[in-house]
Amino acid sequence: MTQGTGRCRAHTNIALIKYWGKQDEQLFLPMNSSLSLTLNAFYTDTKVTLDQALKQDVFLLNHQKQSAEQTLKISNFLDLFRHKYSISAKICVESINHVPTAAGLASSASAFAALAGAINEAARLNIGLQELSTFARRGSGSATRSIFGGFVEWQKGTCSTDSFAIPLDDAAWDIGMLIVVVNHREKIISSRQGMKRTVETSPFYPAWVKSSEKDLVEMKKAIVTKDFSKIGELAESSALKMHATMLSAQPPFTYFEPDSIRVIQRVQELRKKGLECYLTMDAGPNVKILCRLTDMDKLKQELSTEFSQDQMILSGVGSGIHSLSENEWLLSKKGLKS
Ligand code: ADP
Ligand code: DP6
Repeated sequence: MTQGTGRCRAHTNIALIKYWGKQDEQLFLPMNSSLSLTLNAFYTDTKVTLDQALKQDVFLLNHQKQSAEQTLKISNFLDLFRHKYSISAKICVESINHVPTAAGLASSASAFAALAGAINEAARLNIGLQELSTFARRGSGSATRSIFGGFVEWQKGTCSTDSFAIPLDDAAWDIGMLIVVVNHREKIISSRQGMKRTVETSPFYPAWVKSSEKDLVEMKKAIVTKDFSKIGELAESSALKMHATMLSAQPPFTYFEPDSIRVIQRVQELRKKGLECYLTMDAGPNVKILCRLTDMDKLKQELSTEFSQDQMILSGVGSGIHSLSENEWLLSKKGLKS
């Protein structure tokens, strides 16, 4: 295959049972299985063009040509496909993030899921979704789960081919997330570096892995029985346990900022007052609040005494990857939703 074009959209996902730590850094095999909810508010659109005439791969993110370092990251990912499917062409990747990049809002998850989907289409590889998730995983672990919509499990597996995502439930649920953007600047410690340091130095790390496995079993039961309270309790607990491993790493670090703590306290107060909501946080200071869709407006109103409208983003459940028409792609490039 020397020519071809593919366009794909993938939504971000937020883990309810977190992935934090790798057993194999090269292959992106995680220490523990994880489980997420795909969100419709944030997504990445990517166009891939195979072009025999190109001398080297090109990577444009949000209309900007990226550095040699960022492009190399993309080339290494594309090589996985080139090697397996004997593709010789260099590739032009154009991507638009409808999500802040590297701010703990999971841009890498939607990015590599969209890129995997776009190359699958451009080179007409016909890779099935489960296998495609093993490719997405090699770009960024959390991207494994963004191939699918709704609740998704990433089964840690034992080797590269059986560490993949499976969709659990993407039916319409009365569930969503309110994201409080405390800070959308790029983070200083990437998730990759953070989890590596934690695995290597935190004495709490083995306990994290053990308790995640238990939480995952409970979470899957709660999803089957549609037990919102249990889902929320487990999600909040998984996030806080993960963040505790960072405080116990050497040197210690945290993604919490003063405003993150304010949101955490507000969530816990609101819950006491009867508004059921639960928080989760990733490798960044922003707080995601899991709530019923029917409570979303009330929640936003309660938080608006302390946080501006711009800081609060509401999201429902997102779908899995899908291809885009040229027209949808052009709208996306203009920053418009299709
Ligand atoms: P986040 O919290 O946003 O996932 P990470 O530090 O885990 O932050 O990942 C951000 C990195 O993902 C970026 O530095 C870049 O290398 C990669 N990335 C983000 N968006 C894209 C994209 N649309 N296409 C390809 N790579 C991307
Ligand atoms: C805290 O998937 O960004 O968001 O695999 O090194 O690319 P790499 O890390 P990444 O880590 C995500 C960590 C997390 C939890 C989660 O999404 O499960």
